Amino acid sequence: MALIGVFDSGVGGLSILDEALRQLPQHDYIYLADSANAPYGEKSSNWIAARSLALCKHLTTQGCDAIVIACNTATAEAIAQIRAELSIPIIGVEPGIKPAAMQSQNGIVGVLATEATLKSDKFNALLATLPDQCRFIKQAGAGLVPLIEAGKADSEETLDLLSKHLEPILDAGSDTLVLGCTHYPFLRKSIRKLLGDTITLIDTSDAVVRQLKRQLEALDHRFDSGERGSVLLISSKDEASLLAMAKDLLSIDLNLHSIDCAFLGEVS
Ligand code: DGL
Repeated sequence: MALIGVFDSGVGGLSILDEALRQLPQHDYIYLADSANAPYGEKSSNWIAARSLALCKHLTTQGCDAIVIACNTATAEAIAQIRAELSIPIIGVEPGIKPAAMQSQNGIVGVLATEATLKSDKFNALLATLPDQCRFIKQAGAGLVPLIEAGKADSEETLDLLSKHLEPILDAGSDTLVLGCTHYPFLRKSIRKLLGDTITLIDTSDAVVRQLKRQLEALDHRFDSGERGSVLLISSKDEASLLAMAKDLLSIDLNLHSIDCAFLGEVS
C-alpha cells in the first residue's frame, strides 16, 4: 500500500481526503493542515511558495509515496517549484473552469476562489486556453476560509458573507459556479440555501483523486488487500480540533480507519 500525503492551509483539503478515502480506502494517509497560517489566499506569492515547499518536503521525510496539494492557492503558487525539487508524484488542484465551461448552458460561469488563486499566472494561463464565448465572473471569497476553519460553515454569519460574494455572480446570470477553493465544498449547504438548485456547482475532488489513482497505478501500487488504511491528521494549530472537524466534515466514516492525530512543530 502507498502512503499518501494530503496538504492544505487548513481543513479545506479534507474535501479531497474524503473523496480519496472513498475511492482509495486501502492506502495510508497523512493529512497536513497548516491551520496556524490559514488563510493562505491573502498572503504573498513568495510566502505561499516557500511554506508549501517546506511542508511538502516535510511530508517526504515522513515517507510519503505521493503528495496531493489539496489547495488551489498552493497549487497555483508553488506546484512547479515543488515538482522540480521533489522526486515523488505531486498532484495539484485547479479551479474547474474547463468542466464548468463545458457544462454551462448560457456560457456564464461564476468562479469563487481565493484572491491569490484568481491573481496567479497559473490560473490566468488556464483561463486563456478557454473559448471566448464563455464569460467568467471571478469573485474572491475573502473571509470565508476563517469561518470554515472556525467550524461555522453553516452559520448565519457565513450565509451573510456568502450572499455578498455571490451577488455579482448571480447578477451576471451565471448558471454554473466553480468552487475554486477546497474549503468551499463545505459551503454546499449554505450555497443551496441561498441559491436553491438553480445553479450547477463544480468541484474537482473526483477528478483529482482519479489522477492520484492513475499516478499510484504507474508506481505499481495496485494491490488491494481489502483492508482499510490508516489516517494520521497533523495540524500546525490544534490537532484535537482538526480530528473533531474531520469527523464532522467528512462524509465517510473515519472510525473505519485507524486514526491518529499529531501536532506539527517547527518545519524549516
Ligand atoms: N483551501 C485552499 C484553496 O483551495 C486555501 C484557502 C486559504 O487558505 O486561503 O485555495
